[in-house]
Amino acid sequence: MHQTPSLPGTTDRRLAALLTLLTENSTIVISGTRIAREIGVSRTMVWRWVEQLRKLGVQVKGQHSSGYFLEKVPDILTPDLLRKRLKGNQFGKRVLHFFKTDSTNRVAMELGYAAEPEGTVVLAESQTDGRGRSGRSWHSERGTGLYFTVLLRPRLSPAQAPLLTMLAGISAQAAVQAQTGLVPELKWPNDLLLNGKKLGGILTEMHAEPNLVRFVIVGIGLNVNQEKFPAELSSIATSIRMESGRLTYRLELLARLLAQFESDYNRFLQEGPGFVVDRFQSVTSFAQGRRVRVDTGTETYLGTTEGLSPEGLLLVSRDNGPLVTVIAGDVTEVR
Ligand code: BTN
Repeated sequence: MHQTPSLPGTTDRRLAALLTLLTENSTIVISGTRIAREIGVSRTMVWRWVEQLRKLGVQVKGQHSSGYFLEKVPDILTPDLLRKRLKGNQFGKRVLHFFKTDSTNRVAMELGYAAEPEGTVVLAESQTDGRGRSGRSWHSERGTGLYFTVLLRPRLSPAQAPLLTMLAGISAQAAVQAQTGLVPELKWPNDLLLNGKKLGGILTEMHAEPNLVRFVIVGIGLNVNQEKFPAELSSIATSIRMESGRLTYRLELLARLLAQFESDYNRFLQEGPGFVVDRFQSVTSFAQGRRVRVDTGTETYLGTTEGLSPEGLLLVSRDNGPLVTVIAGDVTEVR
């Protein structure tokens, strides 16, 4: 069993063990005595934790005298179950789970400085300060989306790190397709869209020397089971549930995505940037022949996408102007 480091707010390892025990025996009544014995705490502690789980929205039935059971398996990203599902993989060997944190990217950044190993995953049921690109925030409603960050220590130059954003997009697209049949569109460099609305986004941050990356954190947000969004997002955001009408088991989707990301990551390290650039171009129609508006922060212009450069940058032929390379900025399709 991996010990969870004592990071403020992380789900207590024994609380997670209680959740796993109840989940694996759902609909069966388990006595407080057995729970206490199996997770190594007192019966009073079991009762306190059951109360805590209830406060967190887990429907634990029963009482102290008779025992406890779950009426239905909660869709909680139980770290033990995730680890089991990812046995043999490097990504997810170490999982830090939060019921609530400010931002999994913020936590992962701290872990990066604290010499945590590559493949460590920070995940949260909800975020109070989820971060998006360009200083935007990421809506992180409890228990409905996937909000997680993977810590990587690749031997790459800082200029190559943005390829990891594209790579994560490719992996996320494959995982969503495998589990739901829906095929999100990838919008360079970091968006997943369904029917033109935002389904997911990736925020990569790093700590680097001038020529060498020390660590990179890849934060992924995916809208999975949301039924609706706040008014200001309702015209631009969507979820798997809203598009398919079905609920998705988030743990399964997360496990698929992590396994896919690990295998794509290893291929990238072996084969080089060409793997990411070619794959990205083959799974998106956005990079070629689309009318776009580019906003670089200092200027805005219109043009048509002309593919990716060998480094993974977007090429745009400007209206009445030259072919330019977009290094950073917001690219929006105009119809
Ligand atoms: C974007 O499209 O602007 C990127 C959104 C990235 C959101 C995810 S949610 C998990 C991780 N933690 C954060 O604070 N942000 C990323």
